[in-house]
Amino acid sequence: PASRALAGRHILVTSGPTQEPIDPVRYIANRSSGAQGTAIGAALAAQGARVTFVTGPASVPPPAGVEVIRVETAAEMLDAVRAALPADAAIMAAAVADWRVAAASDQKLKKGEDGPPTLTFVQNPDILAAVAGLSLGRPRLVIGFAAETENVLEHARAKRRRKGCDWILANDVSPATGIMGGAENAVTLITADGEESWERMGKDAVAARLADRIARALA
Ligand code: C5P
Repeated sequence: PASRALAGRHILVTSGPTQEPIDPVRYIANRSSGAQGTAIGAALAAQGARVTFVTGPASVPPPAGVEVIRVETAAEMLDAVRAALPADAAIMAAAVADWRVAAASDQKLKKGEDGPPTLTFVQNPDILAAVAGLSLGRPRLVIGFAAETENVLEHARAKRRRKGCDWILANDVSPATGIMGGAENAVTLITADGEESWERMGKDAVAARLADRIARALA
């Protein structure tokens, strides 16, 4: 029987990739499936939390029993996250595009005599850092992911400090691990109190264990 340890809590989850337009028919995106974020949303709802689930265009359907807010771009995701606050906890599992095209074209770019276009990028807002840095209305627990392909733990520790979040879940997304787009994950939970490596397990099991930890931290 599921415990309802998160009853009465409001938890915000971001999930999936973002899509950054080039023109009305083209975009830049990434390979995030949304599987881990979806599993987290489901696990939190199963523990009785009210979940606001802000998702980019993912390849898996959103979980049942959550409020789904669909967005495409990082800027839209930031707006949706702001509108969803206050929350007791925020888990940022989305793979947000780091850059967007500086001036997306209103009209479809055409093949022409000028040859291929040159795209200029600008930095997207960092949603995790923005929420973690709130002086007013910061969720008590702000959690990010660090998907890395090398020096995973060092990068993750630095990321936790730089972004000001409470916990980071570090994972190795090198193609050989099969984690990105796969059914399993192997994470290390990094907090102010230390580090804990969890054995490789299904993304649902990672989500359930994380939901337990969140319930304990908020209790
Ligand atoms: O810097 P990096 O993208 O590796 O950081 C990953 C973490 O930061 C994830 O939790 C991701 O959801 C979050 N993030 C974000 N907004 C961005 C970039 C990353 O919320 N623009």
